[in-house]
Amino acid sequence: MPPAGWCLLWLGLVLASVCASLESAAPSNSTTAPLNVLLIIVDDLRPSLGCYGDKLIRSPNIDQLASHSLLFQNAFAQQAVCAPSRVSFLTGRRPDTTRLYDFNSYWRVHAGNFSTIPQYFKENGYVTMSVGKVFHPGISSNYSDDSPYSWSIPPYHPSSEKYENTKTCRGPDGELHANLLCPVDVADVPEGTLPDKQSTEQAIRLLEKTKTSAHPFFLAVGYHKPHIPFRYPKEFQKLYPLENITLAPDPQVPAGLPPVAYNPWMDIRQREDVQALNLSVPYGPIPVDFQRKIRQSYFASISYLDTQVGHLLSALDDLQLANSTIIAFVSDHGWALGEHGEWAKYSNFDVTTRVPLMFYVPGRTAPLPEAGEKLFPYIDPFDSVLERMEPGRQVMDLVELLSLSPTLVGLAGLHVPPRCPVPSFHVELCREGQSLVKHFRFQDLEDDPSLRGNPRESIAYSQYPRPADSPQWNSDKPSLKDIKIMGYSIRTIDYRYTVWVDFNPHEFLANFSDVHAGELYFVDSDPLQDHNMYNDSQGRDLLRSLMP
Ligand SMILES: *[C@@H]1O[C@H](CO)[C@@H](O)[C@H](O)[C@H]1NC(C)=O
Ligand SMILES: *[C@@H]1O[C@H](CO)[C@@H](O)[C@H](O)[C@H]1NC(C)=O
Ligand SMILES: *[C@@H]1O[C@H](CO)[C@@H](O)[C@H](O)[C@H]1NC(C)=O
Ligand SMILES: *[C@@H]1O[C@H](CO)[C@@H](O)[C@H](O)[C@H]1NC(C)=O
Ligand SMILES: *[C@@H]1O[C@H](CO)[C@@H](O)[C@H](O)[C@H]1NC(C)=O
Ligand SMILES: *[C@@H]1O[C@H](CO)[C@@H](O)[C@H](O)[C@H]1NC(C)=O
Ligand SMILES: *[C@@H]1O[C@H](CO)[C@@H](O)[C@H](O)[C@H]1NC(C)=O
Ligand SMILES: *[C@@H]1O[C@H](CO)[C@@H](O)[C@H](O)[C@H]1NC(C)=O
Repeated sequence: MPPAGWCLLWLGLVLASVCASLESAAPSNSTTAPLNVLLIIVDDLRPSLGCYGDKLIRSPNIDQLASHSLLFQNAFAQQAVCAPSRVSFLTGRRPDTTRLYDFNSYWRVHAGNFSTIPQYFKENGYVTMSVGKVFHPGISSNYSDDSPYSWSIPPYHPSSEKYENTKTCRGPDGELHANLLCPVDVADVPEGTLPDKQSTEQAIRLLEKTKTSAHPFFLAVGYHKPHIPFRYPKEFQKLYPLENITLAPDPQVPAGLPPVAYNPWMDIRQREDVQALNLSVPYGPIPVDFQRKIRQSYFASISYLDTQVGHLLSALDDLQLANSTIIAFVSDHGWALGEHGEWAKYSNFDVTTRVPLMFYVPGRTAPLPEAGEKLFPYIDPFDSVLERMEPGRQVMDLVELLSLSPTLVGLAGLHVPPRCPVPSFHVELCREGQSLVKHFRFQDLEDDPSLRGNPRESIAYSQYPRPADSPQWNSDKPSLKDIKIMGYSIRTIDYRYTVWVDFNPHEFLANFSDVHAGELYFVDSDPLQDHNMYNDSQGRDLLRSLMP
């Protein structure tokens, strides 16, 4: 590795964020019963939600959860693709520590025998349960969702999941296709149900069973939508008439975008309805009427997801568990809906790395419900007189998904594992992320605003690998052996800064002296990240000021 300023800069920033942290756990009261945890993980959901200020989206149940929660406005995933992101936040380690940048290895044998969040709760007396897509299936969780280590009982997968990619979408020709856009009549599909409905039902059954358990529970529920294909009950389309759907504000591939930063969104191209468009590879574009339909179906999938969250939380209320259960709501990463001419995750842009993140803590983020009071009554998104729910408390600081692990542990009053040494492959239990627990000490923060820290010091790191300098068939999801370049990205409150550097996948070494391309976007003047200032004098000045 070169001694260049780069490494020092990187290290310096990491250390700065270590020093800026204030870590002690929640004041736990050993005489009170431990809190349960309900962790809701959504697949490919960017913060297109009412509670994040989106005026078009109908997400009343998630907004209601937000109104009782502490919501993080600037939360970022560490890598914008499912398996690496999930393994990262579930183990509390960065992708450079799990060494999972693709889908093809199990960290316990490939990197280190790292503990997971559910494993830690299990080892602390919790009954841990997994429903739906929590770990990514396949090798990356040893074909078992990391059983038996993470879970007390075998993970549940909805039986109708197997139809997600089969021909179940009725096209205009009356035939069934494997389409991207797949609004369905639920009575008509195989088994007459959809995976997320089944997961909600199973999660509610498990909650009912906890009534008779002497142990606290940790229940993770992983929803599939709005991940592609957009297979959802067709009535949700009505919430988003096509004439009300706008295009992305910046649908062009930006002129100053280095080709290595662009990803050609190959997966949607394989769907039958998209294939029929005969799109040009790698840049498209997609015809605008079809762009509107994709956005419509993504939004409809969110409203469908919202109803599932609504049913789940309302059941939690009915079981009188809302006064004893922490609820965390999170997505693995975002998704570009035409921004920069892209239709996927697989990048370092904010649209794919920024995620919704909120925590409800009974008695802390909201007053304890009185006996019989409902905090989470189900709200019908089709209700014509739907009122916007006021958001609850919000944090603007930049935070990382890595923080999920120490934060949940701290909020539950368990001992927060120590910071990881560097390197930490041999350490089973430690954390690379900051605990966010200090943000929940509202009275302390009011009494002493300096405890808030300086948002200018908070930094979120993300990274994305590429097989080549120009977009090619495997640029979205290169296998480890094909990775030649790693894009390391820093997001501060002022800018996003990315360097694409040479990477050796055998030694796992990044060479910061071998920079293939760079990106720099200023948040205030260019929130959508369309004007790359890396070569600009303003950019050069900033970079020089960062050098130690
Ligand atoms: C713990 O809870 C008990 C019973 O609610 C209360 O009397 C006591 O003051 C609490 N202690 C702390 C340290 O919060
Ligand atoms: C990995 O961790 C698990 C859970 O603590 C433990 O059961 C197992 O023995 C460990 N494996 C190795 C190889 O250390
Ligand atoms: C992965 O699963 C296989 C098959 O169940 C099992 O033999 C192996 O021990 C598991 N790996 C680890 C590290 O636990
Ligand atoms: C569509 O837009 C029109 C005009 O702004 C508005 O009146 C209508 O309520 C919108 N429909 C929906 C379902 O949002
Ligand atoms: C920045 O400068 C480098 C070296 O001169 C050049 O290769 C690259 O294309 C430039 N990038 C942009 C975005 O202008
Ligand atoms: C698809 O596009 C290519 C080039 O744009 C064109 O040559 C070809 O005829 C098109 N095929 C169909 C089926 O439209
Ligand atoms: C939660 O509320 C129920 C019903 O009011 C009550 O029986 C239970 O003791 C409460 N649990 C806690 C931890 O306050
Ligand atoms: C890193 O890149 C520089 C510039 O290309 C090169 O001179 C150096 O040998 C590289 N270092 C390693 C360890 O490959």
